[in-house]
Amino acid sequence: FELWMGRSSLFVLNICLFCTCAASPPNFVLLFADDLGFGDLGSYGHPSSLTPNLDRLAAEGLRFTDFYCTSPVCSPSRASLLTGRYQTRSGIYPGVLYPGSIGGLPLNETTIAEVLKPLGYATAAIGKWHLGFGDKGMFLPTKQGFDHFLGIPYSHDMGPCWNLTCFPPDVKCFGTCDLGTVTVPLMQNEVIKQQPVNFLKLEEAYSDFATNFITTSANKKQPFFLYYPSHHTHYPQYAGLGAAGKSLRGPYGDALLEFDNTVGNLLKTLEKTGVIKNTLVFFTSDNGPELMRMSRGGNSGCLKCGKGTTYEGGMREPAIAYWPGTIKPGVTHELASTLDILPTIAGLAGAQLPKVMLDGVDMTEILVNQGKSKRETMIFYPTDPSEMYGLFALRLGKYKAHFYTRGATHSSTTPDSDCSVFAVLKPHDPPLIFDLEADPSENYPLTLKGKPDLQNLLEKIKNVKNQFEASMVFGESQISKGTNPNLAPCCNPQCSPKPSCCHC
Ligand SMILES: *[C@@H]1O[C@H](CO)[C@@H](O)[C@H](O)[C@H]1NC(C)=O
Ligand SMILES: *[C@@H]1O[C@H](CO)[C@@H](O)[C@H](O)[C@H]1NC(C)=O
Repeated sequence: FELWMGRSSLFVLNICLFCTCAASPPNFVLLFADDLGFGDLGSYGHPSSLTPNLDRLAAEGLRFTDFYCTSPVCSPSRASLLTGRYQTRSGIYPGVLYPGSIGGLPLNETTIAEVLKPLGYATAAIGKWHLGFGDKGMFLPTKQGFDHFLGIPYSHDMGPCWNLTCFPPDVKCFGTCDLGTVTVPLMQNEVIKQQPVNFLKLEEAYSDFATNFITTSANKKQPFFLYYPSHHTHYPQYAGLGAAGKSLRGPYGDALLEFDNTVGNLLKTLEKTGVIKNTLVFFTSDNGPELMRMSRGGNSGCLKCGKGTTYEGGMREPAIAYWPGTIKPGVTHELASTLDILPTIAGLAGAQLPKVMLDGVDMTEILVNQGKSKRETMIFYPTDPSEMYGLFALRLGKYKAHFYTRGATHSSTTPDSDCSVFAVLKPHDPPLIFDLEADPSENYPLTLKGKPDLQNLLEKIKNVKNQFEASMVFGESQISKGTNPNLAPCCNPQCSPKPSCCHC
């Protein structure tokens, strides 16, 4: 059937998946790392990371070199991943949500889980949500199309981090976590299962829950969508017993190894239950590495700066698509984004697209035929997008134009002074333009003067920018609604004094 299946016969492919696999649409496993940079995986060139399972996905699947998230920080990036829309539309800006945040991902946004539900998919979110908790948990995953949720509603440093930053042989602890808020809860669906969460057993709980979910769905022959946004490798980097001290790279390496072990468990489960050939596994990360953690933070490889910035290191991410029998091993240099995951999943499952303005495009052609991307442009919004400034940078084909640059606290401490928090907002007119294929590190801006070709390029970039900005309707900011400490998850809601009494 490969012979007569033309390059563009994706429709035919869909039909065949249905008829050869007894009317079973594909399963989806979406693995999402946290603050993991372009240079952090063994398969992306890190010399001391131990990521055998992710590396196996890369070797036997399709590895992207030009894949982007939509924001250099957590919550907005996650909103785009799950909705296929820039965060400016859904209102998940500026910055991130906190325990007690009043807002969250608006319930009228359609997530990947909600796209798949009408087709009878079982859906689960396991790990770090970070798209809101709200009044009585009104923004939890179970309100956004997920049948099951096991996880932490926000980042695991948004509460005391006990001794997680203290690692032998260093006696000194490295950094602190947020104080003055509730201890970090582990939720199951809408109920607090543990507060504080047992950090050292957390990965095991996730791995077991995910294994059960896959096994149960496969046994019932129900198609499934597993979304696993891990708390690894966000600060504080640590690992439970299975991985602590086992990497060559210290706490960051241990956290990554612990995540990788779970990836291995999930792959084994997919094999054992016989669904691996009918499952698309996709891996990427929410934003670039938090370089301010120095040798305990992630690594953006050859890319400039990291988390918090709109340089490549803040937003270009490793990405791997694995689907034995359907995706051939290889590397693609096509432009793609987390925005494209929703339309791709919808296309592969035969689901209806949400009737909203989508920013994603279907990338099935890249996955299945190593074909061309439908995406020509990538927009770089800062952590605090506004209509006044608009986008900070824009990639068109191999060129990237910076209209504004700025460093970030999250990327401070590197020798490159452009990354530091002291590199204040700088407008560029004409924009700084880089050829990312020749200069992925954004070291050498092109000289436009006296070069008619580049003048034409500049005009084209400006047109694309104007067109994009004319199409952008900013949603009401959910994060500017602020916080109310009484909304923070508490296992003992009537207790006092808060937050310390929220301890069960
Ligand atoms: C959701 O509701 C808000 C408030 O009514 C509205 O502004 C927004 O456009 C809606 N979003 C979608 C995706 O329908
Ligand atoms: C933190 O303390 C607990 C309990 O004392 C201990 O079991 C654990 O190994 C410690 N973790 C680290 C990372 O030092």
